[in-house]
Amino acid sequence: MAKNIMLLCLVALSFGFLAYAFEPSPLQDFCVADTSSSARVNGHVCKNPGSVGAEDFSFSGLHMPGNTSNPNGSRVTPVTVAQLPGLNTLGISMVRIDYAPWGINPPHTHPRATEILAVIEGSLEVGFVTSNPDNRLITKTLQKGDVFVFPIGLVHFQRNVGTKNAVAIAALSSQNPGVITIANVVFGSKPDISSNVLAKAFQIEQSVVYHLQATF
Ligand SMILES: *[C@@H]1O[C@H](CO)[C@@H](O)[C@H](O)[C@H]1NC(C)=O
Ligand SMILES: *[C@@H]1O[C@H](CO)[C@@H](O)[C@H](O)[C@H]1NC(C)=O
Repeated sequence: MAKNIMLLCLVALSFGFLAYAFEPSPLQDFCVADTSSSARVNGHVCKNPGSVGAEDFSFSGLHMPGNTSNPNGSRVTPVTVAQLPGLNTLGISMVRIDYAPWGINPPHTHPRATEILAVIEGSLEVGFVTSNPDNRLITKTLQKGDVFVFPIGLVHFQRNVGTKNAVAIAALSSQNPGVITIANVVFGSKPDISSNVLAKAFQIEQSVVYHLQATF
């Protein structure tokens, strides 16, 4: 009996910690981000609910294509708490992604969110890689109307495999999902990670590391 109770307590505790590791459930209708406050909390502090309005809960312009004239040939237009303060504490956000022909959204991960992506225009090759030691690539070519999910934390990418522009809309399970672009964090950190570390990690010559560090 005592054993069972202890087990129950452990289970209850672990659920408590699991929930706490991500965004806690809101205990109020909303908490519109007050980005002008100097208080530091996990997220943003709330604006006075009496002074919020529809503008705090809306964003305009997602019908506009993003500018894909860059080395990736893609552009992410985010609608996270930074653009839409009403998302604060709600654990949800979205993005529009535009791709030029053969454009890529390079390998990256969202430390705080699972992402579900729908192709609205064109066709995309998408994929994610599982954790060590398998590092299995799960990949598929999506057509307009297809949906794909990238599980939280896993490295993923997209590529436009059509001859026309492609467009995707994605939802993310955090108001502030974060982005870690692999090439940028590895070869573009400030200051640089020691070239010796990267040469050994990637099994390449230091000159190649210098070249990549200069690029990123
Ligand atoms: C798109 O970005 C490129 C490169 O930054 C810039 O030269 C060009 O003017 C931009 N195009 C538009 C329509 O803003
Ligand atoms: C490609 O896109 C990522 C994510 O938007 C960005 O961080 C990176 O700087 C881009 N890379 C290049 C070479 O422009």
